[in-house]
Amino acid sequence: MHKIGIIENIAEEGISLLKNNKKFQYEIIEDVSKENLIKVLPNFDGITLRVAKLDSDILKYCKKLKVISRHGVGYDNVDLNFLKKNNIKLLITATANAVSVAEHVMYMILCLSKGITQYDSMVRSGQFRDAVKNVLTYELLKKNILIMGFGRIGRILIKRCLGFEMNVEVYDPFVNKSDIENHGGVKVDNLSNSLKKSDFISIHMPLNEKTKNLIDFDKLKSMKNNAIIINTARGGIINEIDLDKALKQNLIFGAGLDVFEKEPIEMNSPLIKNNKILLSPHSATFTKECKIRMGKQTVQNLIDFFEGTIKKNMIVSL
Ligand SMILES: NC(=O)c1ccc[n+]([C@@H]2O[C@H](COP(=O)([O-])OP(=O)(O)OC[C@H]3O[C@@H](n4cnc5c(N)ncnc54)[C@H](O)[C@@H]3O)[C@@H](O)[C@H]2O)c1
Repeated sequence: MHKIGIIENIAEEGISLLKNNKKFQYEIIEDVSKENLIKVLPNFDGITLRVAKLDSDILKYCKKLKVISRHGVGYDNVDLNFLKKNNIKLLITATANAVSVAEHVMYMILCLSKGITQYDSMVRSGQFRDAVKNVLTYELLKKNILIMGFGRIGRILIKRCLGFEMNVEVYDPFVNKSDIENHGGVKVDNLSNSLKKSDFISIHMPLNEKTKNLIDFDKLKSMKNNAIIINTARGGIINEIDLDKALKQNLIFGAGLDVFEKEPIEMNSPLIKNNKILLSPHSATFTKECKIRMGKQTVQNLIDFFEGTIKKNMIVSL
């Protein structure tokens, strides 16, 4: 019998895969304080994980732990060195959430370029005619979009962009030209050049030493003044202070952020008051359908791991 800890609740459809399965016993852990995790996690052979932070201070007590199944694809809340040293496997819901994130990007692009939030509030406050006169909006047709990072999400997003007849450039040094061309995009090697001519930029790469602050004030300054930049990947890839400054100086047109350097975003962050930025609470995958898919895949991955049938694309190579 394998003991499974579900850290933070997940969709019932996922948990039900463990119900009536005699090979597994499970427990849901709602209290993710460090003290509680240190107390309860040593009981488990496998755990699921959402956003709680698992560092070595907690993991060093988990002597039985063989596998962590992440509800999502990012894993910057886990101490990877510790996992590697102690041969604990890390699984992700690799095929569950890309569509939902790509749709969120399209929502942000459309919302910002069509002035949706301004129109809505101006109509409600009786400024029907002024709204038409004063709100600047754009089309997507024949506009240049740069997709930064061409993995699971980038590859789904490109189809949506081509559907709007946009010209798509892709920056991903780890993906070859023909792969990108087969998806209808143009590979670019020089990020700075492409940023200068893009109308839209959407970020889909991991956060690491190379990508932290990749989009800083100099790069923002070089962009077109109608440029709209979207970050649904990880906070910190765009420098938040620089973004606020660039928007205030009208160097670019707008930004859509689902992810932040600090989450939840602090209420005294300048981004909160900057109405050229569209904000969402790291919710790109929180559609009803996606929550069900992620809950099921998180648990199925654990079952497959213990049964020796886990698919390669669900395992993070550490
Ligand atoms: N907002 C959300 O809720 C949400 C949901 C899912 C994923 N994400 C985040 O979105 C990002 C992309 O997810 P994915 O599933 O497509 O990941 P993925 O691993 O499938 O793809 C990432 C791509 O980035 C490329 N890359 C790595 N370093 C790069 C660099 N320096 N420059 C350019 N490209 C680089 C890789 O080659 C890869 O093709 C991740 O940061 C992930 O954590 C956020």
